Amino acid sequence: MAVAWPYASGSRHLGHLAGAYLPADIFARFQRARGHRVLMVSGSDVHGTPITVRAEAEGVAPQEIVDRYHSEFVRHWDELGFDWDLFTTTGTGNHHAVTQDVFSRLYERGYIDKRSSEQFFDPEAERFLPDRYVEGICPHCGYDGARGDQCDNCGRTLDPTDLVKPRSSLTGTTPERRSTEHFYLRLSDFADELRDWLGSREGWRKHVLNFSLGWIEEGLHDRAITRDLEWGVEIPIEGLGEGKRIYVWFDAVIGYLSASKEWAALQGTPDVWQDWWQDDAADHFYFIGKDNIPFHTIVWPAILLGYGDLHLPTDVPANQFVTFKGGKASASRGIGLTIGAALERYEPDALRYALAANLPETSDVDITEAELVRRINEELVATWGNLVNRVVSMTHRYFDGVVSPPGDLEPADRDVLQSVDDALAEAAEHLDGVRLRAALAALLGGAQATNQYLSELEPWKTAKTDTERTGTTLYTALQAVAGLAAGFAPFLPATSRRVLDTLGLEDGARQPAWERRDVPEGTALGPAVPLFAKAEPPPDSD
Ligand code: MF3
Ligand code: ZN
Repeated sequence: MAVAWPYASGSRHLGHLAGAYLPADIFARFQRARGHRVLMVSGSDVHGTPITVRAEAEGVAPQEIVDRYHSEFVRHWDELGFDWDLFTTTGTGNHHAVTQDVFSRLYERGYIDKRSSEQFFDPEAERFLPDRYVEGICPHCGYDGARGDQCDNCGRTLDPTDLVKPRSSLTGTTPERRSTEHFYLRLSDFADELRDWLGSREGWRKHVLNFSLGWIEEGLHDRAITRDLEWGVEIPIEGLGEGKRIYVWFDAVIGYLSASKEWAALQGTPDVWQDWWQDDAADHFYFIGKDNIPFHTIVWPAILLGYGDLHLPTDVPANQFVTFKGGKASASRGIGLTIGAALERYEPDALRYALAANLPETSDVDITEAELVRRINEELVATWGNLVNRVVSMTHRYFDGVVSPPGDLEPADRDVLQSVDDALAEAAEHLDGVRLRAALAALLGGAQATNQYLSELEPWKTAKTDTERTGTTLYTALQAVAGLAAGFAPFLPATSRRVLDTLGLEDGARQPAWERRDVPEGTALGPAVPLFAKAEPPPDSD
């Protein structure tokens, strides 16, 4: 389980959360619930011009920016309940060493060579201008504000020299072209192998496969993998002179491998990274946003093929964009709610729910705060929270909080349990296919069926006339809640654990098993505490 490494250059927003991090945590938790051995790694991407541009704008050292945002990320992941195996950074000695090893091996094998090319140079600042130091008009969509590495408007990957009317982001001057030497990754050498490999992928999202094959069809260009920068991993081969470092995208994707090695070493079993990277039985899922697709379906696989004996991606279920009233969420352009601001407004599980219900899995999704609040109040609170609260409170009211022995189950009782079991089975199938929205909808359907069952059997009425029937109804509803809580647990980890605890089913497992466990008669339930508060309507109702 590989999760995109966030640039430690600024606060991340809900687009990032819904794009990569939340789906990854849900998927990892589900796979653990099914009994799989899961390794989920990522970390802060601390190199490249996103970091140095920010540091120069603030007049501080890059490391200061990195430290500030890395600690913010870690704090927010904790609040959101993310269950990483390791969330590290690309600033570790281990990462530098692994990156240099990969670079050296590719160089020895002839997949990296040195070339001279024309790059932009700012005559006023007297320096070369890699990536985000150049801005201009996107040649694909005409957006004025595209940066040298990518266009935030259409999502295309760019090279600074692609830009129309380029300008230096340092001084605003029109840059000159000057010749400079760099190392290149011979991507074109891998075109046939990559085309065959991508062609053999089954079950991938169409937009991911089409985009990747399209890139290859346009002709795979060899790419410079070093830059005129003083911030980044040192080049392990002599010959370029001072002031050059490895390109951030070359080192960042290697983070998946280096973090696996770091994790293994921290466990005291330094070789177990091989269980994932050198065993065909392992599966590799990459959780990323669509602007990162080519780096994960082409550049990284090429590096892996060039290095040899390392596992290729099983699936790259990239998400589309989250837009906020039409504009793509962007940390650097300050659009969209930051994760920190959202956590001040919403409870972590409520935020997880509202985003999971809106994941941009098949198309861009426009999110408003009104939509988040609607999902929380109408679905999470009204359907699931209310169900749990009703069933537990009635058990306290009518049976002193002790699960009564059921009488003979009638068709209505058996049917509702079947609905829950079906919802779990359907959700599992969707989750295995990384269709998380559909899985959540199936689980909500199970909660709705259980609410419907209560409305029909009206235990609050039968309590006055038929204790045994009331006991059977509540017994049955509690079994349903137990199943649904296990199913919701990957999505709503903290509150699902509380539900299971209330039912006496909290067994301390890292992730509750994906099954409807029995709540035995005679169990003394914990107190009925509301699971979620209603969310307040957004201040500037959008
Ligand atoms: N830092 C990049 C971004 O935020 C993502 C890097 S993913 C990795 O867009 F694979 F390169 F690590
Ligand atoms: Zn564009």
